[in-house]
Amino acid sequence: MKNFSTIFFALMVIVFCSFKINRSTQLTAVPDTSIELLLTSLGEPKSQHYIESVDPIKVKKGESLIKNGFAKEGIFRSKIISTYFTCVDCHSLNRESEDSRKTSPEDRLNYAIKTNQPFYPGSTFWGIYNRTSWYNGDYIKKYGDIISEARTSLSESIQVCAKYCSAGRFLEDWEVEAILHYFKSNELKLKDIQFDEQTQVLLNNANRNEKQQKELYNKLVNSFKRKEDASFLNPMSRDDRKYGQNGDPKRGEEIFDRSCLHCHFQGRVSHLKLDKDLLTAKWFVKNLKDYKDETLYQIIRYGTYTMAGRNQYMPLYTKEKMSDGQIEDLVAYIKQLANSNE
Ligand code: HEC
Ligand code: HEC
Repeated sequence: MKNFSTIFFALMVIVFCSFKINRSTQLTAVPDTSIELLLTSLGEPKSQHYIESVDPIKVKKGESLIKNGFAKEGIFRSKIISTYFTCVDCHSLNRESEDSRKTSPEDRLNYAIKTNQPFYPGSTFWGIYNRTSWYNGDYIKKYGDIISEARTSLSESIQVCAKYCSAGRFLEDWEVEAILHYFKSNELKLKDIQFDEQTQVLLNNANRNEKQQKELYNKLVNSFKRKEDASFLNPMSRDDRKYGQNGDPKRGEEIFDRSCLHCHFQGRVSHLKLDKDLLTAKWFVKNLKDYKDETLYQIIRYGTYTMAGRNQYMPLYTKEKMSDGQIEDLVAYIKQLANSNE
């Protein structure tokens, strides 16, 4: 009988403990907690590109593919993705705005200045792992069917950009996987996103009920961008152009340095060499009233397209990546440069 009660007691302890353990599987959130882990613990299904744990070797290869266009396997080098571009010509690898919810062109430029980074036409790879759709908005107009799968698949987006945006080739499976591992290593953590006090309270509440779990989930997914919007604009009409009148030349110079020169300095990825010379500025000013590639108002909104025998092209800037006001800032700077007597 004594034995029985001991066993019974032991059983009770086990049941009680497992109950305890069960309750405590609710994730304790610390600044380094992965957003993916948090969201899946709150019931979100795992994404198609879900990676359980990062493989540092794959991360290194992915990073090299992104930065150099190839990766090393022992003494061998993999085939280059594109002879024209690397991913980092158009995409940042870092945070791009102070507040994870706000990625207006003005926010992005302020942050680029503050952290001394380029000002890119593409969206950053930082946190791209946590997005749920890609190539949004008007990109369908530019790429049509090519992006129909890319919209809901990160792997497909990588393929589209390797082949089309980079004027390169489709990637092999190991290359896509390596890039995904790099993206996973660059995923969002709790400390990276901005949330309100209520969210904080919910996060700290270890005994959340189901309703509160849902509330927390909704708050978290609204604390960062799960997709980057993309709206194409037409070039401002001749009448709408202010020719830099109220533009801020200082900000314009930042755009010229951090965006245009990032690709055009000494003709890095383009035949067109841009610099901060009087002649360059005069060339732009001469064309300001037109509707052609040499017109700042137009080249920024349309970019250029690849042609037979000329694979480099310039990506267009969407409304989300450069505002009309910023174009006026750039024009103000170019006019100031044209009027200076060096
Ligand atoms: C010449 C410019 C350019 C190059 C080079 C380039 N991309 Fe892109 N990429 C873009 C633009 C423009 C978009 C449109 C969507 C956005 O980023 O806002 C895009 C979108 C993407 C997206 C979807 C982003 C989103 O949130 O919608 C992925 C993923 C991507 N690129 C991966 C790559 C990879 C990987 C490489 C290198 C192999 C690469 N890109 C090279 C310009 C470029
Ligand atoms: C991602 C790289 C990239 C960025 C950023 C970029 N360009 Fe370009 N641009 C190109 C490429 C590539 C071409 C195609 C020209 C060629 O064939 O080499 C081009 C073409 C042009 C042309 C047309 C040239 C011609 O002969 O028709 C102009 C003008 C121009 N860019 C201006 C700008 C300005 C102004 C900015 C900044 C707002 C800018 N570019 C930003 C890559 C870039």
